[in-house]
Amino acid sequence: MKVDVVISADHIKKGELQGKVAVVIDMLRATSVMVTALDNGAKKVVPFLTVEEAFDYSKQHDGEVILGGERKALKIEGFDFSNSPLEYKREFVEGKTLAITTSNGTRAIKGCDGASHIFIAAMLNARAICKKLKSLNEDVVIVNSGTMGQFSMDDFICAGYLIDTLINDNPKIELSDIAITAKYIYENNKDIDSFIKNARHYNILKSLGLDGDLHYCMKKDIIDNTPEYIDGEITI
Ligand code: MLT
Repeated sequence: MKVDVVISADHIKKGELQGKVAVVIDMLRATSVMVTALDNGAKKVVPFLTVEEAFDYSKQHDGEVILGGERKALKIEGFDFSNSPLEYKREFVEGKTLAITTSNGTRAIKGCDGASHIFIAAMLNARAICKKLKSLNEDVVIVNSGTMGQFSMDDFICAGYLIDTLINDNPKIELSDIAITAKYIYENNKDIDSFIKNARHYNILKSLGLDGDLHYCMKKDIIDNTPEYIDGEITI
């Protein structure tokens, strides 16, 4: 098995994911929201690139859909929930479809077309994802959502944690230079907060008073699901 890392949704090269397993990360916060909503009983998550598409879908599936996501890290007018994973409690999401649009995370997922599988990962479910990757034993590309086409420290260290977990179980995995670097960053910063507190997006969320989200999204392996995006829908 080979493992590579792509640093943002805008860095996925044409054909690069063909026949490989893609693992999409947006730990702050889109993939943390998806993993949490599904863990709390959401029937499925349907990602959209635009607010309009999400509204249209919700109108077509009246009563079954909750609308979630963000623009500039804030709740979208007319939506039910923001992009805070802490809002996606069982009492609100159980049995519902979450239609979601976010600035980077949903774009990264949509950008993975052509991959043999597309999994949704965060710190929260990293170990479960690694177990799944091990059982598939195919080449893997970890796709970091990044921030508006830019590298982001938070997704990179999360990729490092995934790689560290994978390799501890299977030392024969072949890592690209960037995958080795991500692993090195994690190994030397196991206390995630002390590393990502310098990240731009971390500080945006902090300035909005979203410390609870930050704290939650940094938790390792508290959820055991492996959400997969197939034909426009994410289910577990
Ligand atoms: C995104 O998709 O860009 C993020 O999840 C932004 C956020 O933290 O709300």
